[in-house]
Amino acid sequence: MSDKVRVAMIGAGGMANAVHYPSLASFEDVEIAAICELDPERLQTTADRYGVKGRYLSQRFDDYREMVREVNPDAVYAIGHPNIMYPIWQWLLENGRNLYVEKPMGTSAHQARSLAHLAEKHGCITQVSFQRRSCPMVMQLHAECLKRGPITHAVCEFYKCMQTPYLEARDHMMDDGVHAIDTLRWMCGGEVVEIQSIARRIGVPDINFFTVMLRFDNGATGVLLNSWTSGRRIFRVQMHAPEICAEAEHEGKGALYADGDTKGVWYDTRDVAGSDQLHVYGGFQNKNREFIDAVKGIGRTSSPFSDAVKTMEVADKILAQDLLRS
Ligand SMILES: NC(=O)c1ccc[n+]([C@@H]2O[C@H](COP(=O)([O-])OP(=O)(O)OC[C@H]3O[C@@H](n4cnc5c(N)ncnc54)[C@H](O)[C@@H]3O)[C@@H](O)[C@H]2O)c1
Repeated sequence: MSDKVRVAMIGAGGMANAVHYPSLASFEDVEIAAICELDPERLQTTADRYGVKGRYLSQRFDDYREMVREVNPDAVYAIGHPNIMYPIWQWLLENGRNLYVEKPMGTSAHQARSLAHLAEKHGCITQVSFQRRSCPMVMQLHAECLKRGPITHAVCEFYKCMQTPYLEARDHMMDDGVHAIDTLRWMCGGEVVEIQSIARRIGVPDINFFTVMLRFDNGATGVLLNSWTSGRRIFRVQMHAPEICAEAEHEGKGALYADGDTKGVWYDTRDVAGSDQLHVYGGFQNKNREFIDAVKGIGRTSSPFSDAVKTMEVADKILAQDLLRS
């Protein structure tokens, strides 16, 4: 490997431009060597913004293969919706490429298991962008709680105000629910051994409400509350350990309470991150950094496919519980 990790990008869409290109561009040891994109304007605009020389306008679905063969990058980002990206991810893993993807890791546990299998078989370094594990403020609050002992219970609430039928290729669970499950798995630690769930369809034909209790093999309990028929968007967590607790909104403020104190020590996510840029305080830059380091042989990613598949399996089991009840 040269001094710089050479990265090739498939896709220059919304999330890639919002958080992944800026994260990669902030690393001195990374070169964005090439971009492959179907949309000529997105390709040129993004390549111009980041000074990328390799420009591959995809005219057939699989033109990205030519880019990967010619550029021979150290790692590939393929950022887009899983119903479009799955065959691309599959080909990249079958060809031994280190791979970063957005969540969800496929549209089903079957796809997630297949991807985890291929990554292991071909020895690929992988990362799923579950960045709520790597938000600087929430990481700090988690570490403060753990100083008192293991997490006894954690709560993750994810609400949106959109009571309309959600008819995309993936459902609410795979779109947003996986973020909440993954954050609970990270906060509680251990493996999920029991799931109790309630799912509802409130004014729409698809499931838009979940309450779930997760029991972990380390004794921790995780409580998940997800609703797309609430009054506003909220992503909020609580973590409780012996005689300490924290509450936080990843993109806002957090507080730590210990020994009966009711005022709390308050944190601002931007202050803790030292930046008012979403890709930094939101945890995306950390998630990208872990991946680049792992490609360089330094440390491991926090959401390799072998771990993210567990989040997808919990999601599918919650959906299966609803199906079995119907
Ligand atoms: N981590 C988070 O907090 C978070 C937040 C929002 C969305 N997401 C996830 O991000 C994903 C969507 O990503 P996005 O917003 O960047 O999607 P997007 O649709 O905006 O961009 C995908 C891009 O890929 C290009 N593309 C498609 N097929 C291609 C091919 N064969 N070759 C080359 N280019 C191709 C498209 O032209 C498009 O520009 C979803 O899975 C969503 O769940 C994650």
